[in-house]
Amino acid sequence: MADGVTGAVADLRQALQARLGGDLVLIGSAEIAAYCRDWHGDVHSAALAVIRPRATSEVQAAVVACRELGIKIVPQGGNTGLALGATPDDPDHQVVITLERMNKIVRIDADDFSAVVEAGCILSEIKDAVAEKGMFFPLALGAQGSCRIGGNVSTNAGGINVLRYGMTRELVLGLEVVLPDGSLFEGLSTLRKDNRGIDLKQIFVGAEGTLGIITKVSVKLTPNPDQVATALLGLSSLDDAVTLFRRARRDCCDLMSAFEFMPPLAFVLAREAIPDLAMPIDGGYPAYVLMEISGSGLVDIDDLMGRFLEGVMEDGLVVDGVIAASVTQARNLWLFREGMNEGQAKRGSHMRTDISVKLSQLADFVRDAEQAVTDALPDCISVSYGHVGDGNVHLNVLPPAGLSADERRARIYAAKNVVNVVVDRYDGSMSAEHGIGRLKRADFEARLPETRRALLTAVKHAIDPSLTMNPGCQLKFSENS
Ligand code: FAD
Ligand code: LAC
Ligand code: ZN
Repeated sequence: MADGVTGAVADLRQALQARLGGDLVLIGSAEIAAYCRDWHGDVHSAALAVIRPRATSEVQAAVVACRELGIKIVPQGGNTGLALGATPDDPDHQVVITLERMNKIVRIDADDFSAVVEAGCILSEIKDAVAEKGMFFPLALGAQGSCRIGGNVSTNAGGINVLRYGMTRELVLGLEVVLPDGSLFEGLSTLRKDNRGIDLKQIFVGAEGTLGIITKVSVKLTPNPDQVATALLGLSSLDDAVTLFRRARRDCCDLMSAFEFMPPLAFVLAREAIPDLAMPIDGGYPAYVLMEISGSGLVDIDDLMGRFLEGVMEDGLVVDGVIAASVTQARNLWLFREGMNEGQAKRGSHMRTDISVKLSQLADFVRDAEQAVTDALPDCISVSYGHVGDGNVHLNVLPPAGLSADERRARIYAAKNVVNVVVDRYDGSMSAEHGIGRLKRADFEARLPETRRALLTAVKHAIDPSLTMNPGCQLKFSENS
């Protein structure tokens, strides 16, 4: 047996290989290690096996085999999730089913503004494929070179373009899903409007793999925005960033596609990850906004950006700014925003959040939460950045270098509790876009109203009565509750 394993685990592995074939079922610990860790490398676990189906029928066969053998399933896409939803936590009873081999673009229907893709397609590959047909798939996030569309749908991913195009849910037209009994939910329509009863596909969006395995997705496309203006702006405060957002929302009509805020530390962190990044602007302003306006056809985007910035600089709302003069320069500006995540990862394990509050309370929330962290943990650094237009802030806390693993863990735990108290006070959400996974389950459960818990339990039992799908993710269910 692989790795000298014997007993019940060896028997289950052998049974899986006998039923599904050695090509589909990986069992060596070295082979499966990459599927059993999270993106940051904070958590390393193990699994009975990793199953790699190439078609929907093979997903169905794998689900039926697991169910009959009493094995639990953790679905996985690109494994970039930040909530441990795709990381197994019971090595003797769970397998990972990865969609990585189901990565075909089924079709792109430019005339219908839609496309159908397999769930294992990497997000950036979908974006590139539709761009070749003059179309645009608006979902955009830092992990787009690795995350897969089934994972995006299962987390209802957000990203930088939400303020214009909505969360993933708003981009999904249809789904094909293998249900926990192996049957197929065939909802792969590309119809824009369809009110024939309850829209069942919605139940799988944001379910984090707890109700079935998404195997195909039909998505909305828009015309490619061939004009894009990108500006990095220096401001006096986050309050000003919120004021600027409101003004841009009005002055730029519906053409604003991104409005991200960053602290000055962003430049330091990004350059720790990507050392040769050239500084595009003085790094000493209290707050920065990365703003994008885009469109296609007859509008003049450069003129709009120019006139908008002229007005807000005259009014003193923006202190300094740079407009990208080329696609390469725009990409360089975005690298500061994207490089922040990797820069934080390089500083070791840290506390990450994904919070939303009302836009009108965003600046106050950040001020209060950062102050609460400083009061409780004076040796830690808070770094707050994110999607202003969505009232969504990633307020992360970095422990100092030189701590033991236990000391780091204690700081992270304390920081999380301190910040959650402030989130509750603001009636905010502890998961604006990353999901609950295993990471936030306890905090989610502790705040779950009874009626909502009862509904979630009823849905789980109706669709997955054997509790096969992603146990321990989102909520802990038992056979009776
Ligand atoms: P995975 O991590 O593999 O899985 C995520 C969850 O979905 C798990 O619960 C898993 O079981 C389930 N799942 C995966 N595939 C399927 C399937 N086919 N059927 C059923 N269940 C499935 N997220 C944002 O929302 N906005 C951001 O701006 C953003 N930026 C990021 C930047 C970086 C650098 C990184 C590392 C992550 C970022 N994320 C962001 C988080 C992450 O990329 C998203 O949550 C993404 O949607 C996860 O996709 P994935 O394919 O990697 O899913
Ligand atoms: C981002 C991820 C962390 O916005 O959601 O960078
Ligand atoms: Zn985000």
